[in-house]
Amino acid sequence: MKEPRRHPLIVGSGIAGLYVALRCREMGLRPTIVTQGRLEESNTRYAQGGIAAAIGPGDSPALHFADTVRAGDGLVDRAAAKLLAREAPARIAALVRYGVPFDTAEGHIALGREAAHSRPRILHAGGDATGLSIEETLKRRVLEGGIDIEERTALRSLSPGGAHGPVALVARTAGGAEVTHESRPVVLATGGAGNLYRQSTNRPFAMGEGIAIAFRAGALVSDMEFVQFHPTAFWRDGAPRFLITEAIRGEGATLVNQAGERFMPGAHPDAELAPRDVVARAIDREIARSDRPWVYLDATGIPRDRLFARFPSICRFLLLYGIDPSRDRIPVAPVTHYMIGGVTTDLDGRTTLPGLYAAGEVAATGVHGANRLGSNSLLEGLVFGERVALRLKAPRAGAPPAPSRTLALPPVAGKGSVEDLTTLDRLRSRLWEDVGIVRTPDGLRAALGAFETLDREVEPAGRGGAAGAVANAALTASLIARAALERTESRGAHFRTDFPRRRESWSRHIGLRLRAPARRRR
Ligand code: FUM
Repeated sequence: MKEPRRHPLIVGSGIAGLYVALRCREMGLRPTIVTQGRLEESNTRYAQGGIAAAIGPGDSPALHFADTVRAGDGLVDRAAAKLLAREAPARIAALVRYGVPFDTAEGHIALGREAAHSRPRILHAGGDATGLSIEETLKRRVLEGGIDIEERTALRSLSPGGAHGPVALVARTAGGAEVTHESRPVVLATGGAGNLYRQSTNRPFAMGEGIAIAFRAGALVSDMEFVQFHPTAFWRDGAPRFLITEAIRGEGATLVNQAGERFMPGAHPDAELAPRDVVARAIDREIARSDRPWVYLDATGIPRDRLFARFPSICRFLLLYGIDPSRDRIPVAPVTHYMIGGVTTDLDGRTTLPGLYAAGEVAATGVHGANRLGSNSLLEGLVFGERVALRLKAPRAGAPPAPSRTLALPPVAGKGSVEDLTTLDRLRSRLWEDVGIVRTPDGLRAALGAFETLDREVEPAGRGGAAGAVANAALTASLIARAALERTESRGAHFRTDFPRRRESWSRHIGLRLRAPARRRR
């Protein structure tokens, strides 16, 4: 008799999902990966800058830890950040063992510089194709390892099961039959929620559905107010919001306004290499002062050969739009990029639901605090993915502690009157306008009201297709707005006009969970 409880169901196929699957296989487990699209479709594939690890001369995990804590604006979980920095070199060694072809210089792994890192510590591959190289390498290993894969299959719902895991309902995305998995651990590696916003670097499927599904099942979520904006996405009408990696600023590119003036030196001592939230807000201010929704990234000071060799994908993309970055300035603006909050986990990826684990962007370990340090996200998928795999191999009871500020929200039963995708479009615009880089109390209240109304009117939970997408989007959007309204201060990626400063009393995380249904009296 097989022991199904030992064989995890892994939902998602970015760096966290693939890495957990590989490590589980190496430890003798038989994981199954289910993924909404093709195996290689994930945000990981489009990561450019790279992956951070303190492996260079003069660097150390202690410095990497200190930079992570500083960028996180007083809210980083120090134990998580210590682990991240300390285990980074070993996880990089694992990627090298799998065959990831990191770029080298003079026989050593080449290290780039990114904002708010005090040392060059960003490993990259294919210049600016780091995510692609990692995703392709891990995918190859997964296929060679004979790991079960169910493509075009989405998680529909979770419900609390026994001690070994929740009950997971999955179904083919194109209206296929539903399959129920019971008594096996489930690892959520569904990625982020950036595409809930009108303007985002994320792929279309990054809609935060893993967060919505886990929340509905009763899992605690936290830090939902912290949605990170990347300062420099390509900005041209009709063009995709293509990421222009901050590694370009690490090579010396500067930001200039419509008048051609640099503005970052006046905004922060580290100028263009200030933390991401600071740069995004400074650009936002410049945009508000001008009649155009972008500023310029000026990389013309970087020698042409160097620019094209180090950033080949970006240069190729820009040339398609008639921009030669060695001669022309690049129009850029901040757009959503990364969901800092998510399903609350402990350091072993355990959520508050027995048998449900989370790793990568969908998880909230607290490691990023209020503002993630660039290139810590791929790393997070590996470091906490490793710990999830170890825990799956040797399960132990336990769950993350609830934050001191935890709100219990009432359950919602959708009426089923809304299920069209134009609703989704409106929701994305609303998040962008009212729950964006700069938030006002009125905007937050109006957005929350709209999302909660929508949440009540969409299809009941657990449906696929447009109905399921709208239901999950409405719920995740309402969690973001709810937490943003609750946090009456400004910190990291969360900025409110009515509370423009950080308040020490808010040096804590906000947790959200579903209120247990009231017991019927007999
Ligand atoms: O700018 C970048 O390449 C982004 C890196 C990251 O989000 O970690």
